[in-house]
Amino acid sequence: MSEPESRGPSKRRKWIIVGSVAALLAIIAIAVGVGVGVTQSNKNKNSSAASSSSGSRGSSSNPGGPKQSDPNDPSTFETDPNLHKAFYAIAYTPEGSQLPDCGNNLQNVIKDIQLISQITTRIRLYGADCNQSALVLEAIRQTKTNLQVFLGNYVIPSDSTPYSRQKELIKQAIQTYGTDHIAGITVGNEFMLNYMLDNGGGDPNSAIGNQGASLLIANVTDTRQMLADMKLPKTIPVGNSDAGAWFNNKVLEAVDYGMANVHPWFANTTIQDAAAWTNQFFRETNVQPAANLPNKPKMYIAETGWPTKSSDAANANNGASAASVENLQIFIDTFVCQANNNGTGYFFFEFSDEKWKDNQFGGVEGWWGLFNGDRSLKNIKIPSCIAP
Ligand SMILES: *[C@@H]1O[C@H](CO)[C@@H](O)[C@H](O)[C@H]1NC(C)=O
Ligand SMILES: *[C@@H]1O[C@H](CO)[C@@H](O)[C@H](O)[C@H]1NC(C)=O
Ligand SMILES: *[C@@H]1O[C@H](CO)[C@@H](O)[C@H](O)[C@H]1NC(C)=O
Ligand SMILES: *[C@@H]1O[C@H](CO)[C@@H](O)[C@H](O)[C@H]1NC(C)=O
Repeated sequence: MSEPESRGPSKRRKWIIVGSVAALLAIIAIAVGVGVGVTQSNKNKNSSAASSSSGSRGSSSNPGGPKQSDPNDPSTFETDPNLHKAFYAIAYTPEGSQLPDCGNNLQNVIKDIQLISQITTRIRLYGADCNQSALVLEAIRQTKTNLQVFLGNYVIPSDSTPYSRQKELIKQAIQTYGTDHIAGITVGNEFMLNYMLDNGGGDPNSAIGNQGASLLIANVTDTRQMLADMKLPKTIPVGNSDAGAWFNNKVLEAVDYGMANVHPWFANTTIQDAAAWTNQFFRETNVQPAANLPNKPKMYIAETGWPTKSSDAANANNGASAASVENLQIFIDTFVCQANNNGTGYFFFEFSDEKWKDNQFGGVEGWWGLFNGDRSLKNIKIPSCIAP
């Protein structure tokens, strides 16, 4: 098992968000080809992020983050007039949160939270390794920001250890920080997608799919039991995230919410069609089916966005439109305020570029950030609508 690889939304995984059963074999064949290409692009590590920052950053009081009037008090950070709480939610992974290379630290997470809290009121994490739940909750405490966090437990289908390890870390974080800033616990990310691919693909609602689902549901039930045993002052919702077309209904019946990756880039839409496509896919594939289940789980878009570059020429476009900052701006302008008005709960993908993903997967994988890897805002304009 290659642990770090299983942590990232690999190209293979994100790719397969659109998947009619009929198209499945073809898609898997393509995805495997893409996976091979990824290894080669590991050589291509020296792509540097173009920076065009606005606002005051990198001051001596808080190097690499917003200026602080009191260097010892992270809550005294200066806000940037170019940032607005336009996003319903943001997908976030603190740098250095993948085993075995934990390198995250509170100072850096505080800088991230100082910026993120200026563009949204909600974030989601993907996993709990490397103490990231506690780090994020501590950063929220020290910055005195109002962020709500969906914690994550990244479950591996073939191994019981990652679930238990992360469960303990989540439990400790709740014991230390309480429930005020916790909006949910997401158990499993792309679990069904990975389980199905490992077991020959096919319909996630087939008999094989239901076998995988029963493993995941055991984790969901166990997490609920842990929360019940803790006798907390509020009920924390327990959910699951997966690629948009890969939800199993029994899993959805076991959770309070589902989060679906819906990526117009990987569906090869043009940038002009991207926002409407995302809305339509999400309603048809996720919202409507979930509304027909007895428990009616709340559905969110777990990831949507647009990459700003590729580390190799082969992925510079999706066949219809380019990976570019201009196109990210178009997607922001056509999706964000409309989705807010339409009542869609979405996690914009993502806070900042992630070097480890570029190193590991190449292509566009590392280049989805609103911010560059050095926390400077990309050359984009954040809309001034305020998300609900
Ligand atoms: C996890 O992070 C919190 C907050 O920074 C810290 O208090 C705690 O000691 C950390 N635990 C470990 C095991 O690093
Ligand atoms: C959690 O899921 C893993 C992976 O499917 C499984 O091996 C393990 O038994 C589950 N643990 C619990 C407590 O449900
Ligand atoms: C918002 O809803 C309208 C009307 O249903 C739809 O045409 C549009 O595509 C939606 N946009 C987004 C981004 O949700
Ligand atoms: C998307 O475009 C890529 C690159 O041009 C192509 O290889 C792939 O077949 C297309 N996929 C779909 C789902 O249309």
